[in-house]
Amino acid sequence: MSSLLSIDDIQVSYGNIKALKGVSIDAQEGQIVCLIGANGAGKSTLLRSIVGLEPLVSGQISYSDSVIAQGHGEHHRGHANCLPTEQICSLGIALVPEGRRVFADMTVEENLDMGAFLVKDKSEILKRKSEMYDFFPILGQRRKQKTRSLSGGEQQMMAIARALMSSPHLLLLDEPGLGLAPLVVQDIFSKISIINKENKVTVFLVEQNARMALRAADDGYVMENGLIVLSDKASALLANPKVKSAYLGQ
Ligand SMILES: Nc1ncnc2c1ncn2[C@@H]1O[C@H](COP(=O)(O)OP(=O)(O)O)[C@@H](O)[C@H]1O
Ligand SMILES: [Mg+2]
Repeated sequence: MSSLLSIDDIQVSYGNIKALKGVSIDAQEGQIVCLIGANGAGKSTLLRSIVGLEPLVSGQISYSDSVIAQGHGEHHRGHANCLPTEQICSLGIALVPEGRRVFADMTVEENLDMGAFLVKDKSEILKRKSEMYDFFPILGQRRKQKTRSLSGGEQQMMAIARALMSSPHLLLLDEPGLGLAPLVVQDIFSKISIINKENKVTVFLVEQNARMALRAADDGYVMENGLIVLSDKASALLANPKVKSAYLGQ
């Protein structure tokens, strides 16, 4: 199997705070890979660095055998040696950010249109929207409603649908279950599995909800304080005593 995404020994800092201290992660084509870790471990920083939103101090990130970001030393934060975010997205990567970041005053439909900003063909945009309404029927019913009137789970589904409007090969999800009721989380994870299995989208999933994430994933990584402390098949991590006591409450 070939790596679709290869993160090689990256460091990311916010001023004096070293958020990522040399992190390496590989995602094979077609897999669901998850990264679990407590609040503040560095998970969002990692996802943001993949799409060019945080510059690397050192290391590099490759996607589909092209380098998309490279380290540039401590003192050049303003001159990141990485592709601009829009260009990274146009290569087939989409991020569903933490906290959903929906445009609350826009309708569901307008949000989905925003997700297709790189698609120029109007009929293609209509086709993709109708696929999203088939896949998430609740969004079809609510398409003319302002996003702020949606429940948290519906907003999360809309954020995922918005990312899928760009037809990504690699979908990055930042805590899709955050703040949602267990049944809603299950619903969202089952959609993520379908997106992976049926639409052949490679998924890189970041979660504090370790149990749900490890059950859904093929491979898993555990991050603590900006370092990967464990990596294995997700099924092996579920059975790992350290993971059980620290992340699964067992
Ligand atoms: N914009 C920022 N400025 C300064 N520090 C930040 C910023 N974003 C995150 N951090 C710090 O970097 C570390 C990792 O944060 P983050 O990547 O958000 O972790 P996680 O997503 O795992 O909760 C934390 O110590 C956090 O306080
Ligand atoms: Mg986070």
